[in-house]
Amino acid sequence: MSVGALSLSACDNTQKTRVLKLAHTLDTTHPVHAALVFLNERLESISGGEMRLDIYPSGQLGTERELIELLQIGGLAMAKVSASPLEGFIPEMKLFSLPYLFEDSDHYWQILNGDIGRQLLLAGEQYRVRGLAYYEAGSRSFYSTKKAIRSPADLSGMKIRVQNSQTAVATIKAMGGSPTPVSFGELYTALQQGLVDGAENNPPSFYLSKHYEVCKFYTLDEHTAVPDIVIIGTPTWDKLSSTEQSWLQQATDASVGHQRRLWATATQQALDAVKAAGVEIITPDKSLFQNTVASIYLDENLNSMQHLIDRIRHKGPEKEQ
Ligand code: GCU
Repeated sequence: MSVGALSLSACDNTQKTRVLKLAHTLDTTHPVHAALVFLNERLESISGGEMRLDIYPSGQLGTERELIELLQIGGLAMAKVSASPLEGFIPEMKLFSLPYLFEDSDHYWQILNGDIGRQLLLAGEQYRVRGLAYYEAGSRSFYSTKKAIRSPADLSGMKIRVQNSQTAVATIKAMGGSPTPVSFGELYTALQQGLVDGAENNPPSFYLSKHYEVCKFYTLDEHTAVPDIVIIGTPTWDKLSSTEQSWLQQATDASVGHQRRLWATATQQALDAVKAAGVEIITPDKSLFQNTVASIYLDENLNSMQHLIDRIRHKGPEKEQ
């Protein structure tokens, strides 16, 4: 039997397997995909074969926005998306697309693993999307086809692809560029055909999407650190038994550590590989970029989140899990 996101298939006369469909937009060589494969293996083993995932990578089932919509109506069980497009559904997620919010990786993980991180994973329940865990997605930096970006002044007149996120649009505008939303799957062609002059992403995604083939400048300004999130639609979550929910949460939690270990290696490998392929890696004065974005924090859409922003910036006491 198979109904939308969930299916029960008889394996033998005694055992039924709960199969959840999970989709994402990244390549199968990406550390995120490897972590999801690990999650699936862990789920099968913890559940003694009673539960597993069917993983659909590479945007086969749609853009991240489309995946979230499918989750909400129960047409898909789970997805791995960036927090950026999630802000269109869960306003609190805007927080993670704010530029230069975190001081460093320790600060970032302290927040994600603390009260604020947990609160935001559950903030989507009222919009039918529950967050199960954060995956590392490093820092996002600019890459461009023809002109190097060495300071914000270079962004003037450049069309920069952004994710489907108001906060990303506002950030690029504040820095002086022209933000242009394009889906990740269409970005290679958009860069190649000159529809956009550049984009921004972390090193593994820049490399594994092959965007480096058409973008010969990579500027490590590290303007945002937007996490990836493993999500499940509440129409699916609510149909799982409490034992199944607990198996799924445990397997997802176990995949987080694995993904973070893979990430560090993948980032270094990506930087080495793009450099070897002739990409100029620019290490700019980050403060020049940082100085352009103060206005974003004054946006009235952020009013209700100001207390969270203050807690993050002033490193309020966070309880680790
Ligand atoms: C990152 C993120 C993806 C997202 C992509 C993008 O690579 O992990 O989930 O699709 O950025 O820029 O669209």
